[in-house]
Amino acid sequence: MAVRASILVADDDETSARFLKRLLTKEGHDVSVVGTADAALSSCQNDPPDLVLVDLVAPRGHGFDVCRRLKDQGATRFIPVVIVTAQGDRVDRLRGIEAGCDDFLTKPFDSTELHARIQSLVRLKRYTDELESAEAVILGLGATIEARDPLTNGHCQRLAHYATRLGRSLGLDDTDIGALERGGFLHDIGKIAVPDRVLLKDGKLDPHESRVMRKHPIVGDSLCAGLRSLNNVRPIVRHHHERLDGSGYPDGLRNSEVPLLAQIVSIVDVYDALTTERPYRAARPAAEAFQVLSEEADKGWRDRALVDAFVSIANEAEPRTQSPTPNP
Ligand SMILES: [Fe+2]
Repeated sequence: MAVRASILVADDDETSARFLKRLLTKEGHDVSVVGTADAALSSCQNDPPDLVLVDLVAPRGHGFDVCRRLKDQGATRFIPVVIVTAQGDRVDRLRGIEAGCDDFLTKPFDSTELHARIQSLVRLKRYTDELESAEAVILGLGATIEARDPLTNGHCQRLAHYATRLGRSLGLDDTDIGALERGGFLHDIGKIAVPDRVLLKDGKLDPHESRVMRKHPIVGDSLCAGLRSLNNVRPIVRHHHERLDGSGYPDGLRNSEVPLLAQIVSIVDVYDALTTERPYRAARPAAEAFQVLSEEADKGWRDRALVDAFVSIANEAEPRTQSPTPNP
């Protein structure tokens, strides 16, 4: 079945724009036309279409520029952009690919080809939209963990901040840094299944409550399991309470079995938990938290080099705001 789409045509040639609009409207699409690069960009920001058709030499000779700017901005980069050319020039095509365009159309239009290309790009865009909204739901769930407990204010944000700084100092690539940032926000998402009387308990957990709490990495992992885009975050969610000597949970992994990104989040999680106030104790100074991490490295729980790398970046960190945090 044909997919109906909202399409933005960016072309300052009135005849060509009118022709394209008539052709696409006849196919059931909702078509808007703009004549300048700025109008195309602001239209995409204010009311993102399913697809943009931009003429190579128009609007006002900025076809590549429109494409590049749309692909550079987070809010518009997944909108498919088709560059319309009057001639099948190889150099123009290469420039278009460099600018990030998704496809080309050559004038004069072949209506069957136009139909097929638009259908394929719009279908792809719909899949991306679905994935994006599923991911937004998961990230929203992560935020609800903090919202449930007023004492957690800023914990996830600080974790994402410290974990990515530590990752960068270790020379990790952008994919790992992105995973660390999301892992900072999502690591405790499984606490959504922990009842308030346990999550918000003012004091030590009894053995049964402890068992309930210790399930949160497994619950969190299964929550993220449905989304391929969170594949590199799952090891952080599942293993951020493991210890290198095998005494952690949930899987009792040892040494290099514990994923590096999970080790990083684990170190910053402990640091943040110690240096923020709890209902039953005051925040401890950074030097004491470093000492605890160092002792944990001595006991074989943590990698000594990672702890040292964290201490060195935390020492040069900007002054942190003190806010309370939950049981790790
Ligand atoms: Fe946790």
